[in-house]
Amino acid sequence: MSLTYASYLHLDELLSLQQPRSDPPEHDETLFIIAHQAYELWFKLQLHELEKICADLRNNRLYGAIGTFKRVRTIMKVMVEQIDILETLTPMSFSSFRDRLETASGFQSSQFREFEFLLGYKRADMLRFQEPGTPGHERVARRLREPSVVDAFYVFLEYQGVAIPAILRQRDLALPTEPNEVVEDGILRLYRTKPDLEILFELMTDFDEGFQEWRYRHIKLVERSIGSKKGTGGSLGVEFLKKSLFHPVFPDLWAIRHKL
Ligand code: HEM
Repeated sequence: MSLTYASYLHLDELLSLQQPRSDPPEHDETLFIIAHQAYELWFKLQLHELEKICADLRNNRLYGAIGTFKRVRTIMKVMVEQIDILETLTPMSFSSFRDRLETASGFQSSQFREFEFLLGYKRADMLRFQEPGTPGHERVARRLREPSVVDAFYVFLEYQGVAIPAILRQRDLALPTEPNEVVEDGILRLYRTKPDLEILFELMTDFDEGFQEWRYRHIKLVERSIGSKKGTGGSLGVEFLKKSLFHPVFPDLWAIRHKL
Protein backbone atom coordinates (compact mmCIF):
# COMPACT_ATOMS: atom_id res chain seq x y z
CA MET A 1 0.00 0.00 0.00
CA SER A 2 1.37 3.42 -0.86
CA LEU A 3 2.18 5.91 1.84
CA THR A 4 -0.64 8.30 2.68
CA TYR A 5 -0.99 11.38 4.85
CA ALA A 6 -2.68 9.26 7.54
CA SER A 7 -0.20 6.40 7.47
CA TYR A 8 2.86 8.67 7.48
CA LEU A 9 1.57 10.53 10.54
CA HIS A 10 0.07 7.44 12.25
CA LEU A 11 -3.16 9.37 12.57
CA ASP A 12 -5.31 6.40 13.53
CA GLU A 13 -3.12 5.88 16.60
CA LEU A 14 -2.72 9.57 17.33
CA LEU A 15 -6.45 10.31 17.17
CA SER A 16 -7.36 7.35 19.33
CA LEU A 17 -5.31 8.71 22.24
CA GLN A 18 -7.80 11.29 23.55
CA GLN A 19 -9.79 9.37 26.12
CA PRO A 20 -11.80 11.44 28.59
CA ARG A 21 -12.45 9.79 31.95
CA SER A 22 -15.66 11.60 32.96
CA ASP A 23 -18.84 9.59 32.89
CA PRO A 24 -21.23 11.14 31.99
CA PRO A 25 -18.89 13.04 29.66
CA GLU A 26 -17.85 16.59 30.55
CA HIS A 27 -17.53 18.68 27.40
CA ASP A 28 -14.31 20.48 28.40
CA GLU A 29 -12.26 17.43 29.33
CA THR A 30 -11.40 16.96 25.64
CA LEU A 31 -9.78 20.40 25.54
CA PHE A 32 -7.84 19.62 28.71
CA ILE A 33 -6.47 16.37 27.29
CA ILE A 34 -5.61 17.73 23.85
CA ALA A 35 -3.88 20.82 25.29
CA HIS A 36 -1.65 18.69 27.51
CA GLN A 37 -0.88 16.25 24.72
CA ALA A 38 0.03 19.16 22.43
CA TYR A 39 2.43 20.43 25.12
CA GLU A 40 4.04 17.03 25.41
CA LEU A 41 4.66 17.07 21.64
CA TRP A 42 6.22 20.54 21.90
CA PHE A 43 8.41 19.33 24.79
CA LYS A 44 9.54 16.44 22.63
CA LEU A 45 10.52 18.79 19.82
CA GLN A 46 12.21 21.23 22.19
CA LEU A 47 14.37 18.42 23.62
CA HIS A 48 15.28 17.34 20.09
CA GLU A 49 16.26 20.90 19.12
CA LEU A 50 18.17 21.59 22.34
CA GLU A 51 20.24 18.47 21.77
CA LYS A 52 21.24 19.87 18.38
CA ILE A 53 22.10 23.18 20.04
CA CYS A 54 24.41 21.34 22.48
CA ALA A 55 26.19 19.63 19.58
CA ASP A 56 26.48 22.94 17.67
CA LEU A 57 27.92 24.76 20.70
CA ARG A 58 30.34 21.96 21.51
CA ASN A 59 31.63 22.08 17.92
CA ASN A 60 31.82 25.87 17.66
CA ARG A 61 29.07 26.04 15.00
CA LEU A 62 27.78 29.54 15.67
CA TYR A 63 25.32 29.76 12.77
CA GLY A 64 23.86 26.33 13.50
CA ALA A 65 23.22 27.39 17.11
CA ILE A 66 21.74 30.74 16.00
CA GLY A 67 19.31 29.03 13.59
CA THR A 68 18.14 26.54 16.17
CA PHE A 69 17.86 29.04 19.01
CA LYS A 70 15.60 31.05 16.71
CA ARG A 71 13.45 27.94 16.39
CA VAL A 72 13.26 27.03 20.10
CA ARG A 73 12.54 30.67 20.93
CA THR A 74 9.64 30.66 18.44
CA ILE A 75 8.23 27.37 19.72
CA MET A 76 8.42 28.78 23.24
CA LYS A 77 6.29 31.74 22.17
CA VAL A 78 3.66 29.33 20.83
CA MET A 79 3.80 27.38 24.11
CA VAL A 80 3.12 30.60 26.02
CA GLU A 81 0.23 31.58 23.71
CA GLN A 82 -1.43 28.19 24.06
CA ILE A 83 -2.21 29.01 27.69
CA ASP A 84 -4.89 31.38 26.31
CA ILE A 85 -6.85 28.33 25.12
CA LEU A 86 -6.79 26.75 28.59
CA GLU A 87 -7.98 30.01 30.09
CA THR A 88 -11.29 29.54 28.26
CA LEU A 89 -11.88 26.71 30.74
CA THR A 90 -13.85 28.20 33.65
CA PRO A 91 -13.13 27.16 37.26
CA MET A 92 -16.55 25.49 37.46
CA SER A 93 -16.08 23.59 34.27
CA PHE A 94 -12.62 22.42 35.41
CA SER A 95 -14.02 21.33 38.81
CA SER A 96 -16.55 19.18 36.99
CA PHE A 97 -13.86 16.69 36.00
CA ARG A 98 -10.86 17.61 38.21
CA ASP A 99 -11.52 14.66 40.55
CA ARG A 100 -11.04 12.34 37.60
CA LEU A 101 -7.39 13.37 37.46
CA GLU A 102 -6.87 11.77 40.88
CA THR A 103 -3.19 12.43 41.72
CA ALA A 104 -2.09 12.95 38.10
CA SER A 105 -0.40 16.32 37.49
CA GLY A 106 1.90 18.14 35.05
CA PHE A 107 4.26 17.92 37.98
CA GLN A 108 4.98 14.35 36.89
CA SER A 109 5.77 15.24 33.27
CA SER A 110 9.10 13.56 32.63
CA GLN A 111 9.69 15.52 29.44
CA PHE A 112 9.21 18.82 31.27
CA ARG A 113 11.74 17.73 33.89
CA GLU A 114 14.14 16.62 31.13
CA PHE A 115 13.67 20.03 29.54
CA GLU A 116 14.56 21.80 32.80
CA PHE A 117 17.55 19.53 33.44
CA LEU A 118 18.85 19.87 29.88
CA LEU A 119 18.69 23.64 30.36
CA GLY A 120 20.71 23.29 33.58
CA TYR A 121 17.88 23.86 36.11
CA LYS A 122 18.68 20.66 37.96
CA ARG A 123 16.64 19.78 41.02
CA ALA A 124 17.57 16.21 41.92
CA ASP A 125 14.68 15.98 44.40
CA MET A 126 12.24 16.24 41.47
CA LEU A 127 13.26 12.73 40.47
CA ARG A 128 11.14 11.32 43.28
CA PHE A 129 7.98 12.32 41.39
CA GLN A 130 8.91 9.98 38.52
CA GLU A 131 7.68 6.46 38.98
CA PRO A 132 10.72 4.19 39.57
CA GLY A 133 11.32 1.61 36.87
CA THR A 134 9.56 3.61 34.13
CA PRO A 135 11.33 4.86 30.98
CA GLY A 136 10.47 8.40 32.13
CA HIS A 137 12.37 7.93 35.39
CA GLU A 138 15.35 6.57 33.50
CA ARG A 139 15.40 9.48 31.06
CA VAL A 140 15.14 12.13 33.80
CA ALA A 141 17.88 10.39 35.84
CA ARG A 142 20.13 10.32 32.77
CA ARG A 143 19.54 14.02 32.05
CA LEU A 144 20.45 14.84 35.65
CA ARG A 145 23.92 13.36 35.17
CA GLU A 146 24.49 14.68 31.64
CA PRO A 147 25.99 18.05 30.67
CA SER A 148 23.42 20.80 30.10
CA VAL A 149 23.10 23.41 27.36
CA VAL A 150 25.01 25.73 29.71
CA ASP A 151 27.92 23.26 29.90
CA ALA A 152 27.95 23.18 26.08
CA PHE A 153 27.84 26.99 26.11
CA TYR A 154 31.02 27.03 28.25
CA VAL A 155 32.78 24.93 25.60
CA PHE A 156 31.63 27.38 22.93
CA LEU A 157 32.86 30.34 24.98
CA GLU A 158 36.26 28.69 25.29
CA TYR A 159 36.49 28.54 21.47
CA GLN A 160 35.76 32.28 21.57
CA GLY A 161 38.69 32.92 23.90
CA VAL A 162 36.97 32.94 27.31
CA ALA A 163 39.01 31.02 29.90
CA ILE A 164 36.32 29.01 31.68
CA PRO A 165 37.33 28.49 35.34
CA ALA A 166 38.29 24.93 36.31
CA ILE A 167 35.59 24.98 38.99
CA LEU A 168 33.00 25.07 36.18
CA ARG A 169 34.73 22.60 33.85
CA GLN A 170 35.04 20.03 36.64
CA ARG A 171 31.73 20.75 38.34
CA ASP A 172 29.29 18.09 39.54
CA LEU A 173 26.97 17.89 36.53
CA ALA A 174 23.96 17.01 38.69
CA LEU A 175 24.01 20.47 40.30
CA PRO A 176 22.14 23.48 38.90
CA THR A 177 23.82 26.25 36.90
CA GLU A 178 25.39 28.96 39.05
CA PRO A 179 26.25 32.43 37.78
CA ASN A 180 29.98 33.09 37.47
CA GLU A 181 31.75 36.43 37.22
CA VAL A 182 34.61 35.22 35.01
CA VAL A 183 32.08 33.91 32.48
CA GLU A 184 30.16 37.17 32.71
CA ASP A 185 33.28 39.28 32.03
CA GLY A 186 34.03 37.05 29.04
CA ILE A 187 30.52 37.42 27.62
CA LEU A 188 30.67 41.17 28.15
CA ARG A 189 33.90 41.36 26.14
CA LEU A 190 32.38 39.28 23.34
CA TYR A 191 29.26 41.48 23.25
CA ARG A 192 31.53 44.46 22.63
CA THR A 193 33.89 42.89 20.14
CA LYS A 194 31.95 40.28 18.15
CA PRO A 195 28.57 41.43 16.77
CA ASP A 196 27.70 37.97 15.40
CA LEU A 197 27.88 36.57 18.93
CA GLU A 198 25.53 39.29 20.11
CA ILE A 199 22.86 37.70 17.88
CA LEU A 200 23.30 34.37 19.67
CA PHE A 201 23.30 35.92 23.15
CA GLU A 202 20.13 37.88 22.43
CA LEU A 203 18.33 34.80 21.08
CA MET A 204 19.33 32.87 24.20
CA THR A 205 17.95 35.72 26.31
CA ASP A 206 14.69 35.70 24.29
CA PHE A 207 14.30 31.99 24.88
CA ASP A 208 15.06 32.34 28.60
CA GLU A 209 12.55 35.18 28.93
CA GLY A 210 9.98 33.07 27.06
CA PHE A 211 10.39 30.19 29.50
CA GLN A 212 9.97 32.55 32.46
CA GLU A 213 6.88 33.94 30.76
CA TRP A 214 5.48 30.39 30.43
CA ARG A 215 5.92 29.88 34.18
CA TYR A 216 4.15 33.13 34.94
CA ARG A 217 1.25 32.37 32.60
CA HIS A 218 0.94 28.83 33.98
CA ILE A 219 0.79 30.18 37.54
CA LYS A 220 -1.92 32.67 36.59
CA LEU A 221 -3.81 29.87 34.83
CA VAL A 222 -3.56 27.74 37.97
CA GLU A 223 -4.57 30.65 40.19
CA ARG A 224 -7.67 31.46 38.17
CA SER A 225 -8.65 27.79 37.83
CA ILE A 226 -8.13 26.50 41.38
CA GLY A 227 -7.14 29.52 43.52
CA SER A 228 -5.46 28.42 46.72
CA LYS A 229 -6.40 24.72 46.42
CA LYS A 230 -3.58 22.18 46.61
CA GLY A 231 -2.36 20.62 43.36
CA THR A 232 -3.49 17.17 42.24
CA GLY A 233 0.23 16.29 42.30
CA GLY A 234 0.30 16.96 46.05
CA SER A 235 2.17 20.28 46.16
CA LEU A 236 0.85 23.50 47.70
CA GLY A 237 -0.09 24.55 44.16
CA VAL A 238 0.52 28.23 43.37
CA GLU A 239 2.88 28.61 46.36
CA PHE A 240 5.08 25.79 45.08
CA LEU A 241 5.08 27.08 41.50
CA LYS A 242 6.13 30.58 42.58
CA LYS A 243 9.50 29.22 43.70
CA SER A 244 10.62 28.88 40.09
CA LEU A 245 9.15 32.17 38.92
CA PHE A 246 11.76 34.56 37.45
CA HIS A 247 14.36 31.80 37.57
CA PRO A 248 16.67 32.34 34.56
CA VAL A 249 18.29 29.35 32.86
CA PHE A 250 21.12 31.55 31.52
CA PRO A 251 21.84 33.73 34.59
CA ASP A 252 25.16 35.09 33.24
CA LEU A 253 23.37 36.69 30.31
CA TRP A 254 21.05 38.58 32.67
CA ALA A 255 23.71 39.56 35.20
CA ILE A 256 25.65 41.78 32.81
CA ARG A 257 22.89 43.79 31.20
CA HIS A 258 23.44 46.94 33.23
CA LYS A 259 27.04 46.99 31.97
CA LEU A 260 26.17 46.78 28.27
C1 HEM B 1 -6.38 24.18 34.31
C2 HEM B 1 -5.13 23.93 33.95
C3 HEM B 1 -4.02 23.62 34.89
C4 HEM B 1 -4.00 23.57 36.24
C5 HEM B 1 -5.14 23.84 37.23
C6 HEM B 1 -2.67 23.18 36.65
C7 HEM B 1 -2.27 23.04 37.96
C8 HEM B 1 -0.98 22.75 38.35
C9 HEM B 1 -0.53 22.67 39.72
C10 HEM B 1 -1.41 22.95 40.94
C11 HEM B 1 0.77 22.35 39.72
C12 HEM B 1 1.68 22.14 40.94
C13 HEM B 1 1.95 20.68 41.16
C14 HEM B 1 0.80 19.91 41.75
O1 HEM B 1 0.73 19.83 42.97
O2 HEM B 1 -0.03 19.37 40.99
C15 HEM B 1 1.17 22.21 38.34
C16 HEM B 1 2.43 21.88 37.91
C17 HEM B 1 2.77 21.74 36.61
N1 HEM B 1 1.95 21.86 35.51
FE1 HEM B 1 0.05 22.50 35.52
N2 HEM B 1 -1.89 23.04 35.53
C18 HEM B 1 -2.68 23.28 34.44
C19 HEM B 1 -2.29 23.22 33.13
C20 HEM B 1 -1.05 22.81 32.69
C21 HEM B 1 -0.66 22.69 31.33
C22 HEM B 1 -1.51 22.99 30.10
C23 HEM B 1 0.61 22.22 31.32
C24 HEM B 1 1.39 21.92 30.10
C25 HEM B 1 2.16 20.90 30.01
C26 HEM B 1 1.02 22.07 32.68
C27 HEM B 1 2.25 21.61 33.12
C28 HEM B 1 2.68 21.61 34.40
C29 HEM B 1 4.05 21.33 34.78
C30 HEM B 1 5.18 21.00 33.84
C31 HEM B 1 4.11 21.41 36.15
C32 HEM B 1 5.36 21.27 37.03
C33 HEM B 1 5.98 22.65 37.20
C34 HEM B 1 7.21 22.71 38.08
O3 HEM B 1 7.63 21.70 38.64
O4 HEM B 1 7.78 23.82 38.21
N3 HEM B 1 -0.01 22.45 33.50
N4 HEM B 1 0.09 22.47 37.53
